[in-house]
Amino acid sequence: MVLRSPTNFTSQDILSVDQFERSDIDELFRVADELKPITQRIHRCNVLQGAVLASLFFEPSTRTRLSFGTAFNLLGGSVRETTGVATSAVAKGESLEDFARVVSGYSDVIVIRHSEPGAVAKFAQTATAPVINAGDGANEHPTQALLDLYTIDKEMDSHQKGIDGLRIAVVGDLKYSRTIHSLLKLLRIYTNVTVHLVSPTEMSVPEGIVQDLKRYGHRVRMFDQLVEGIGEVDVIYCVRTQVERFASPTEALNFQGKFRLNREIYSQHCQPNTVIMHPLPRDSRTNAQELSTDLNDHPNLAIFRQSDNGLTIRMALFALLFDVVDSVARHSFKLAWHPDA
Ligand code: NCD
Repeated sequence: MVLRSPTNFTSQDILSVDQFERSDIDELFRVADELKPITQRIHRCNVLQGAVLASLFFEPSTRTRLSFGTAFNLLGGSVRETTGVATSAVAKGESLEDFARVVSGYSDVIVIRHSEPGAVAKFAQTATAPVINAGDGANEHPTQALLDLYTIDKEMDSHQKGIDGLRIAVVGDLKYSRTIHSLLKLLRIYTNVTVHLVSPTEMSVPEGIVQDLKRYGHRVRMFDQLVEGIGEVDVIYCVRTQVERFASPTEALNFQGKFRLNREIYSQHCQPNTVIMHPLPRDSRTNAQELSTDLNDHPNLAIFRQSDNGLTIRMALFALLFDVVDSVARHSFKLAWHPDA
């Protein structure tokens, strides 16, 4: 498929957040709001009956894989999956190009996660079905950025604020975190954003992303101490140390758990309305614990609202890619067993 701007989403590859303009995001969020009763299983829809999603995950995944698959199922489509390299013909040396052509014959849309930056774009060049990037190494994770922005929009809305003028601190492994890379790149479509980059110096965000933020007129400040970077922001976005991207797990140990947000630090250093986000998974092992469970019952902890939004945003994306938004209502029905039906 050829990469184009998704202003008209129909049959587009979704490879990078660079493809999105503000009007696209507004449209996506509007559709997501409309589809909410389906993600909540109050309504069921069969608008994508007969369509097949190929879900190919060559790196570990829970949320992304399940929410893509569930979103497709709840719109009436079927899902076929392969997980891991060992059980795929890739282990027999098959090229990404051959693989893309074969899978295209079996499916109407393909979601793929791969460990190599750029691998999904390469796959999409040969695929004849639309391809969605579910994470390519440390490069990008565009749909996570879309659901993160949607979450920020909702959370800010509840504080009578918008994304323009947002003050956000991103904390932790900013070098390898693809969710951070995509989110920061996407902030270009908003105005007057303040970004605090909070990380050990060795784990800083790639310089090109910093330059782009500045070029779009945003304020960027860097901090190598957690408590200095998390005051005076609307959102703190934490990430785990991406152990699998380091040359060795021992090297990752130098950074794991160095920046830990817990209730005490939050209460002492953050403004009362600061929203806490994390793409998940949280690394709960003793040496990591970068976002403490002692914040679990804090109303500003948005991490599970965020993961719920993954389903809604991915469903909206499918509805737009298949150009069925206007047909959803006609193909929806209430579920007899649902308590709210
Ligand atoms: C993220 C990823 O895979 O990049 N997970 C996700 O998709 N929600 C974040 C991570 O693994 O740390």
